[in-house]
Amino acid sequence: MRIVMIGSGYVGLVSGACLADFGHHVTCVDKSAAKIDALEAGKVPIFEPGLDNIIEHNRNAGRLDFSKELATSVANADVVFIAVGTPSRRGDGHADLSYVYAAAREIAAAVSGFTVVVTKSTVPVGTGDEIERIFREEFPQKDICVVSNPEFLREGAAITDFKRPDRIVIGTEEPRAVEIMREVYRPLYLNEAPLYFCERRTSELIKYAANAFLAMKITFINEIADLCEQIGADVQKVAKGIGMDKRIGDKFLHAGPGYGGSCFPKDTLALVKTAQDYDSPVRLIETTVAINDNRKRAMGRKVIAACDGNVRGKKIAILGLTFKPNTDDMRDAPSITIIQALLDGGANVHAYDPEGMEMAKEVIGPITYGTDPYEIAEGADAIVIVTEWDEFRALDLKRMKSLVKTPTIVDLRNIYPVAEVTKHGFSYFAIGKKNEKK
Ligand code: UDX
Repeated sequence: MRIVMIGSGYVGLVSGACLADFGHHVTCVDKSAAKIDALEAGKVPIFEPGLDNIIEHNRNAGRLDFSKELATSVANADVVFIAVGTPSRRGDGHADLSYVYAAAREIAAAVSGFTVVVTKSTVPVGTGDEIERIFREEFPQKDICVVSNPEFLREGAAITDFKRPDRIVIGTEEPRAVEIMREVYRPLYLNEAPLYFCERRTSELIKYAANAFLAMKITFINEIADLCEQIGADVQKVAKGIGMDKRIGDKFLHAGPGYGGSCFPKDTLALVKTAQDYDSPVRLIETTVAINDNRKRAMGRKVIAACDGNVRGKKIAILGLTFKPNTDDMRDAPSITIIQALLDGGANVHAYDPEGMEMAKEVIGPITYGTDPYEIAEGADAIVIVTEWDEFRALDLKRMKSLVKTPTIVDLRNIYPVAEVTKHGFSYFAIGKKNEKK
C-alpha cells in the first residue's frame, strides 16, 4: 500500500514512521525545505523517544522517504493523510483550516484513480464535508473519498500510543474506503486494537470530545486540590480514592499547575467556538478553559506566597519548562505564565530543563538558563518544580540544602513524599496538601 503523509510535523512524522514500520510504503511531504533536508540528512526535527530509530530503520529498509513535492508524491498514492497544522486563528480561537484546504486542493489536482484522503489533523466538525464539497465542485472528474481518522497521540509516548492504541476511530460510511482503512491498520487489527467505524462528523467530534473531557478531568482534580489545601485533605489520596471507582478511572487525575501543550488548550477553545456557532454552548468546557487560564497565573502567586509574599530581588530556581516531561515542546506550557508572574514580581529567575531550553528561549522573557538542577539551586531562595522530569524525582536533597540560600521547595507536580523533603530541612509547598513551613 502506498501512503503519503502531508505535513511532517509531530503527528505526520510519528504516524508516517509507524505506518512504514507496519510494512507500508510511506512518503512524508512537507513544504518546509529545511525540514525535509534535515530529515533526509538523518536529523529528526522533534524530540520524541524512539522516533529516530524507527525513521532510520524504515528508511534503510526503503519503506520511508521524504519529499518537498506534494504533486509527484501523491500521484500514485492509495491513501493520502492530511496532517498539517490547525493553529488557533488569531482573534477568535477558531481552528485555522487554511493549510488543510490548501493541501486538499493540491492533493485533488494531482491524484489519479480511486484515492482515500484522510484528515489526521484535528479539524472541526464539518471539515470533511467541506473538503468533499471542494472535491465535488472543483475536481468533479476525480474519484476521491474523504475520511476522518483523528489521532490520540500523547507527546513523549506517541510511538506506544500509535502502536498500542485504546481504539482507532475511522469516520466513513463508504465501503471502498472502509476496506482501504482496514488494510492500513491491519497490523494493529491483528493486535486486537479495536477499529471503531462511524460517520465522519461523529469521528470529528470524538476527537474534540475526548480532549475536552480529559482537560475537564484535570481541571476538576485541580479545583479539588485547591479545596484540599483549605480543608487539610490530601489530593493524591482523594484522586486514588475516587479513581478506584471504575466509572471514574484513575488516569488524568494528577493535580498540577494546569494543562498545557499543543492539543488541550487549542482543542478546548475550538470546541467552545464550534458549540457557540451551533447555538449549543458547552458551558462545562467554557468554564474549564477559564479555570485553567487563571490557574497558571495563580501558580505564580503560590510561589510568591511561599517566599513570604515577596520575590523582589530573590533568586528563584525553576526545574522544568516544557508542558510535560519527555518532550521539548513549550506550547502553552504553564512555566511561561508562572515565570512571567515571577518576573513581574521582581524575581531573578534561573531555569533548567533537560530538553526544552532552546524552545523556551523563544517564548520566555529574560531569565538565566543553567546546566543542571544543582547549579541553579546555588544561592536560591526557592526551588520550584514545574515539570516532572524523571531526573528531578530523585534529587540529592542533602546536597540541594547545602547549596540554597533559603530551603524552600514548591512542588507543582507532587513528585516527593512530604516527609522526605521536610526531613532535609526544607519548607515544602505541594499541590493539594497542607503546606509544611519550617
Ligand atoms: C493530549 C492527549 O492526551 C492526546 O490524546 C491528544 O491527541 C493530544 O493531547 P499531550 O498534549 O501530548 O496529549 O499530553 P498529555 O499527556 O495528555 O498531557 C496534557 C497536559 O495535561 C499536560 O500539560 C500535562 O501535564 C497535563 N496533565 C495530564 C495533568 O496536569 N494531569 C494529568 O493527570 C494528566
